Amino acid sequence: MVTVYKAIRPLLFALNPEHSHNITLAATALAGNLGVMDCVLPSRVEDTVELMGLQFANRVGLAAGLDKDARCMQGMQSLGFGFLEVGTVTPLAQPGNPEPRMFRLTEQQAIINRMGFNNDGLESMLERLEKLRRNPLQVPLGINLGKNKSTPADRAIDDYLQGLDAAFELADYITINLSSPNTPGLRDMQFGEPLDALLLALSERRARLIDQYGDYTPLLVKLAPDMSTEDLLRVSDRLVHFGMDGVIATNTTIDRSLVSDSPYANEAGGLSGSVLYERSTAVVASLAQHLKGALVIVGVGGISSGDDAVGKMAAGADLVQIYSGLIYQGPGLVRECAQAIKEGSPW
Ligand code: FNR
Repeated sequence: MVTVYKAIRPLLFALNPEHSHNITLAATALAGNLGVMDCVLPSRVEDTVELMGLQFANRVGLAAGLDKDARCMQGMQSLGFGFLEVGTVTPLAQPGNPEPRMFRLTEQQAIINRMGFNNDGLESMLERLEKLRRNPLQVPLGINLGKNKSTPADRAIDDYLQGLDAAFELADYITINLSSPNTPGLRDMQFGEPLDALLLALSERRARLIDQYGDYTPLLVKLAPDMSTEDLLRVSDRLVHFGMDGVIATNTTIDRSLVSDSPYANEAGGLSGSVLYERSTAVVASLAQHLKGALVIVGVGGISSGDDAVGKMAAGADLVQIYSGLIYQGPGLVRECAQAIKEGSPW
């Protein structure tokens, strides 16, 4: 599979990044729905672990943002992921930022994106997930929630609550995304009074939903890598205080010092890929040392080999996710990471 991807990668990289992304996604959706992939791909690395009351088939998940509208979950599952996260989805459909908004920094194996939560909206995603009930996934599904750009900051909580209400029954876990750099003001919700107000509202609403459905859905919060360690630990304490189940570390960075020699360095947006690895892994390590198991930690940022995945686990992650590595290394990376983590145990 690695060789096949190496052969087609130059073709995909010859196209504008967003077009090749859309083509790959459409092909994955089609192949997944036809069930072709399970016939030709090696089977998933089984390395089951129970966390937050969920059975993860292995510790390697698909990071949010690749399948924003939940279009190709069967196909993604066939790539061997132990769990999938779709979204970020916002209550209303929105177009995102004008193109171009995704840039490949090939030399650095990095991506800069300022997609701006382009997505079809909650209703459309939920319709797709409802259809999936006929052919359920074998791995946990996370739904990553955001706010609409048009929603003013003082109404942002309403967007997350709307998302929580809608996703609660269909998701195995829900991620509250407070860390995209491409929605103005979103990252401010990671701190102080806005954070407390949001977490309180979420925990109260979840308690009501648990009563209503008689079922528990874990809540995780996704953080940026661009805060001081002091802020990071303070935020993590608030997550524990309000009963969150986990933290996803990290989203993309706005720091360009890591790619200052790239012609794209001045493009606005979030930077991901290999260059993010050290920084996001340091965030995982700080969280793990501080939290001592109080929250599940999902480590994401810059994983592009099995060794990288093991490094995230060694830093204290319970689970890992990948996005940019898939673009540069191809889908074989999923199994490589899952196998390396399995062999590298004890975790
Ligand atoms: C992302 N990421 C992202 N995260 C999120 O929570 N919601 C989203 O909608 C998106 N969208 C998105 C689009 C694109 C093009 C990229 C490259 C990334 C962030 C992603 O999930 C992950 O946290 C970072 O990319 C770091 O991991 P990698 O890419 O270095 O493995």
